[in-house]
Amino acid sequence: MAAVLKSEARAAVDAAARPNVLEGERVTKRFSETVVALEDATFSVPEGSFVSLVGPSGCGKSTLLRMVAGLIPMTSGTLAVRGEEVKAPRTDVGMMFQKATLLDWRTAVENVLLPTELAGRTTDADRKRAIELLHLVGLEDFEFAFPRQLSGGMQQRVSLARLLQTGADILLLDEPFGALDEFTRERMNIELLRIVDGIGATVLFVTHNIAEAIFLADQVMVMTPRPGRLAKVVDVPFARPREIDLITTAEFNEIVAEVRGILGGH
Ligand SMILES: Nc1ncnc2c1ncn2[C@@H]1O[C@H](COP(=O)(O)OP(=O)(O)OP(=O)(O)O)[C@@H](O)[C@H]1O
Ligand SMILES: [Mg+2]
Repeated sequence: MAAVLKSEARAAVDAAARPNVLEGERVTKRFSETVVALEDATFSVPEGSFVSLVGPSGCGKSTLLRMVAGLIPMTSGTLAVRGEEVKAPRTDVGMMFQKATLLDWRTAVENVLLPTELAGRTTDADRKRAIELLHLVGLEDFEFAFPRQLSGGMQQRVSLARLLQTGADILLLDEPFGALDEFTRERMNIELLRIVDGIGATVLFVTHNIAEAIFLADQVMVMTPRPGRLAKVVDVPFARPREIDLITTAEFNEIVAEVRGILGGH
């Protein structure tokens, strides 16, 4: 318990010292008279933190991410990235979806290079970086494989490398490992933590899985449906790096119970 209290104090100091890269105030999205996808969400995300977004299907998680990415407009409220109002996609914000969206006819490295190509000419340095990123996500020896020659987990690794190739350091991950089996997913989560800690990225991570949300995050934003609201932000005080054994501890399961209670109470 003493260790938990100590890291709790440290997490509080760390969070206070870091500027917010993302700030939303009363963010609301109304698709029609009757469909309010998100209502009055107020939140802030400190630089370098990992924030999970958990809530039932249809509570507005993907909608919130799409607004942060500048892909769809808000109905009302304010949303700022690094102090600037979000009006369009930005180069420092990148998004990844549940299913890998790779081009079948391009090799892994060619898929990773796609954002660079779309932005202009691809240099030798870009190519070198793409290969380094494939190594970072654990795909050495598969740089020249086509998507059909890769498993689902490996394809998502390529998607992650492609996202990192854009240079974005605010990563919006919408159930990126949702289509993978539990074993692969657990491994991918641990890898993801290692990678984002290594590059100091800020992450907003959507999942349906409460334990996963807590294991990964510094903070869990708990959402409730119809209309989607942000019910509570729960702090996760465990120090990093985290080992998977954490999920069997009493402290961890107290937080699981708290989040479950918030979700169940609505
Ligand atoms: N383009 C759209 N047009 C109309 N309604 C939409 C649109 N996109 C989402 N919605 C509605 O907004 C609400 C929130 O949807 P959203 O996709 O954000 O939920 P979610 O929390 O991501 O759900 P899931 O966990 O199933 O992915 C739902 O009621 C959905 O039907
Ligand atoms: Mg969604």
